[in-house]
Amino acid sequence: MSSDSLSPEAAILVRPSGPLRGTVKVGGAKNSVLKLMAASLLAPGRFTIRNVPAIADVAWMGELLEHMGVSVNRVGDVLTVEVPDQLTPEAPYELVERMRASIVVLGPLLARFGRAKVSVPGGDDFGHRPIDMHLQALEELGATFSTSHGYIEGRAENLVGTRVLLEFPSVGATENLLMAAVLAQGTTVIDNAAREPEIADLADFLNAMGAKISGAGRSVMTVEGVTELHAVEHTVIPDRIEAATYLAAVGVAGGEITIAGARADHMSMLLRKVGEMGMEVNPVVDGLEVKVDQRLRSVDVSTLPYPGVATDYKPLFVAMLSVADGVGIVTENIFAGRFRYADELVRMGADIRVEGHHAVVRGMAALSGAPVRAPDIRAGAALVIAGLAAEGETLIAEAHHIARGYQDLVGNLTALGADVSYA
Ligand code: EPU
Repeated sequence: MSSDSLSPEAAILVRPSGPLRGTVKVGGAKNSVLKLMAASLLAPGRFTIRNVPAIADVAWMGELLEHMGVSVNRVGDVLTVEVPDQLTPEAPYELVERMRASIVVLGPLLARFGRAKVSVPGGDDFGHRPIDMHLQALEELGATFSTSHGYIEGRAENLVGTRVLLEFPSVGATENLLMAAVLAQGTTVIDNAAREPEIADLADFLNAMGAKISGAGRSVMTVEGVTELHAVEHTVIPDRIEAATYLAAVGVAGGEITIAGARADHMSMLLRKVGEMGMEVNPVVDGLEVKVDQRLRSVDVSTLPYPGVATDYKPLFVAMLSVADGVGIVTENIFAGRFRYADELVRMGADIRVEGHHAVVRGMAALSGAPVRAPDIRAGAALVIAGLAAEGETLIAEAHHIARGYQDLVGNLTALGADVSYA
């Protein structure tokens, strides 16, 4: 089934599975490609982006660009983005409301066209998600904003580089600032920048376009503004969260798998943690070999900005800890409200107590299959993983959330021998 066509009613049926065997290939990183598509707005011409996953979020970002007058086409995993000389710098409510990541068009639109009108993103399943840092950072370069009728209108006659200290290493704020700074006059220094591999991928893309960015992947980035950029070809980095999903699958189901395309250097902290839990992970050429022949041991996990354990890995850890030996304490430090799926795991017999931004997870010998609901992309994937270690049938409703971030989770797990199908 194509992810773009998954209806909101689609459900995934999971039966007890394992041990898993075989090879699975990781696609391009969702959280990179969405930003590369936004960065294309910075120059006219034809961009070719390779290793692009066929997921709903990419289709939606494509729709947003098309709404502005850009033409976007996919053939296999290659996306062609043709950006005209002039376009409508507007992101309407219907599209932003569907996908918060749309906010990253703000920086490039202001930098190239001097104006932008973007719907204010609302909250979501993670709770309140402000964009104050995005706006403050762009204001420091000289942009001005007004908000009315649910829209932010930005103006920037002349962006001028300066030192910007981010209050928190926000991924989105760093990206918006970076995409504005590349065309600003003079030098911008981004202090306390996010260091995620997807930021480095964006900086590589922008540098290939003619930008002058140094320090990507470090806390202090320097951007020397240029007057013009040009279209490029680029291959997206692999999705470390998708790779982590297959690690979690073999973690709960046991077995021996190869995760082709995964980059160990993007997942160091995660690999250390799963090693402590008893997984044997060996980096091989262009991938990871993973072996699990015992019940996992519980560990404590705290989410932190990169290179810490990513918040997106957390539901996967909670699923693994639900069937591990012992008690693990999971602390969420990025998104206050990101424990809502715990109730779904409890419906499957997990012993999870949530207090504020901590969850205490006591491992059970097995879970018990139940009808549950996927609240968001990663939590939905974690429920599928939990289902592998649950007696009976687990039916995950609202599986369209999963299709936002995974091209073919069902097909890939099935190829490893798991009993997973669409229902
Ligand atoms: N924050 C603010 N003000 C801002 C911006 C962020 O208070 O102006 C806060 C957020 O509320 C949050 C923290 O700062 O508490 C970190 O948010 P960040 O800006 O780093 O996150 P993001 O850019 O909105 C991206 C990913 C998320 C991932 C986070 C953290 C994309 C499209 N999204 O979100 O991925 O969880 O970074 O690594 O890149 C997903 O893939 O499903 C996903 C949600």
